Amino acid sequence: MSKSTLGTLLIITTLSLVAASFFFSQTAVSGGSDDDNEGYFSKIQYRGVMPVKNSEYQNECSSCHMAYSPGLLPAKSWQKIMTNLDDHFGDNAELLPESQQNIANYLLKNAADKSNYYRSKSIVRSLRNHKVVDRITQTPYFIRKHHEIPKRYVINNPKVGSFSQCNACHLNAEKSSFNEDEVSIPGVGYWHE
Ligand code: HEC
Ligand code: HEC
Repeated sequence: MSKSTLGTLLIITTLSLVAASFFFSQTAVSGGSDDDNEGYFSKIQYRGVMPVKNSEYQNECSSCHMAYSPGLLPAKSWQKIMTNLDDHFGDNAELLPESQQNIANYLLKNAADKSNYYRSKSIVRSLRNHKVVDRITQTPYFIRKHHEIPKRYVINNPKVGSFSQCNACHLNAEKSSFNEDEVSIPGVGYWHE
């Protein structure tokens, strides 16, 4: 092999290695499909929604379902929920006034419309011109992400019961991570579209 052929080969190999590593870094970061048009860098920095970091909220609001990330609903929704705790989806979830105030402050301050996390932004966008909802599961974003899942996997599945039990299916829900490849529906298994 002549020196110049060897040189050309080397250049080609280097170029394809660079191209391949660029391709793999892209797919690793986007981690599966997502139809939201957030910028590439904001995805790295702000993946998912904000994890819960408030022990009072965690303690008081996780006995009947997980303590949902404040970034899953806008401030108006949290306000509605926190002012109606005596009639909370058929339950009484009332708290002592001080606790209620502290938790409301935490939720309102970190609500989806105050957040830089890209899923929070998507949720807020989906609610544009929408009435105030008191459920994550009523946001157009949530409905769009779950409409293909049959009822028999959810309501008629004793190990799930309702869509409000995020952590029944999302293995890392408690860490506020909801990636598609971290979903396993009890009795059904890993979800493949
Ligand atoms: C006594 C039990 C109980 C406690 C305590 C409780 N909740 Fe709930 N919560 C419920 C029930 C029941 C539902 C409706 C679940 C369903 O439809 O399957 C619900 C639903 C919700 C939803 C809507 C979930 C969805 O479907 O999108 C939010 C948000 C919520 N609760 C927030 C809170 C907050 C904040 C607190 C603490 C202040 C709290 N909950 C404490 C029983 C409780
Ligand atoms: C019955 C199981 C189940 C429950 C309960 C459930 N999910 Fe999901 N979720 C899924 C599946 C399956 C997907 C993937 C759907 C698809 O790609 O078609 C998904 C997708 C998502 C996505 C989009 C993931 C992505 O990468 O685009 C988000 C965000 C999400 N769920 C949040 C929640 C939240 C918040 C709750 C609770 C309020 C919840 N889910 C409850 C099964 C569930």
